[in-house]
Amino acid sequence: MNLPKIHSISKKICVALLGGFLLIFLLFHASANLLVLRHDDGAWYSAFCHFMGTNYIVKVFEIVLLGFIALHICFTAWLWITNRLARPVRYHKDGKSNTHPGSKLMMWSGILIFSFLVMHFCQFYFVKLGWVKGEYMVKTENLQDEEMMQWAQLADQMEISLDEFINQLEERSATLTDENEDAAETEEYIARLRSKAAVLDIVQRAYAEDNITKDGKWIRHLTYDERQTLREALPDSDPEPDFYYMVRQLFHNPIMVILYLITFVVLFIHMRHAFPSAFQTLGLNNYKYGKAIDILGQIYAWVVCLMFAAVVILVYLGL
Ligand code: HEM
Repeated sequence: MNLPKIHSISKKICVALLGGFLLIFLLFHASANLLVLRHDDGAWYSAFCHFMGTNYIVKVFEIVLLGFIALHICFTAWLWITNRLARPVRYHKDGKSNTHPGSKLMMWSGILIFSFLVMHFCQFYFVKLGWVKGEYMVKTENLQDEEMMQWAQLADQMEISLDEFINQLEERSATLTDENEDAAETEEYIARLRSKAAVLDIVQRAYAEDNITKDGKWIRHLTYDERQTLREALPDSDPEPDFYYMVRQLFHNPIMVILYLITFVVLFIHMRHAFPSAFQTLGLNNYKYGKAIDILGQIYAWVVCLMFAAVVILVYLGL
């Protein structure tokens, strides 16, 4: 097979640099997830997710991150294939190998982490992209539409519901004959009112069912269809995934708890080996600091995985 020729050490350096970036991301991600544990009705975590979902620098960072994950996987697979091609017949070695068990497991742990990521993205990230349905929330301040309020007040004064009010308006406009040049405009206007009445319905139901956060800033438990209704009626309403609720919901399921915890063990093995290995590839791991870097790698992997695990376990226990 003819693979493009890049010196194997250059590939290793790429894997190490990309892996280093991913290690930093994991520490950041695990720390941010701890916000889920605050008993504040999701105020901090939702504010954090809102920032992550709306800030343009973060959006660029997200694309870079996904690109780096893809490159990390490609380079690793490429290294593995070229190594295999270079040595089609395996060395025969009696007795126990003295390779670090993590190094032997790197490829398999990588594949397992990739499979986890596919599931994880379907549960969260793809919801943000709108590829998978989830639960949504919207800022109450984004729903304050003057036109909608005026019509609602008018209907209130007439002691009828907004729906009835629009029906009456529609009947009256139907009696206006076709000669009326404004007929099309009126139809359009009524359609707009209808969509705003649907928004009002959603808001009223949210208040009736107590789906408002304690600070009154968010309406939560919106379905995908409700999110679409809001987006069509009020393009600036910007409903977003309710990750706080979705995370808490997910870890009530024992199967998910077990799957996530298994992943953290696999992630630990992967990171524990990746850390000193990245230093070594970059030539920063000499005999003097080798031991220290190895210990630092262990601590790093423990801290990240324990932070992830704490969220899963404590949410499951309802703490
Ligand atoms: C307790 C465990 C975890 C929870 C609660 C969690 C939660 C989340 C949530 C809510 C998102 C969507 C955030 C957004 O797009 O704004 C997300 C995205 C992501 N997660 Fe996790 N995650 C966990 C563990 C992991 C692990 C172990 C990995 C890697 C092996 C990982 C990798 C990612 C990546 C790459 C993204 C997409 C980038 C981003 O949006 O930040 N997550 N996670």
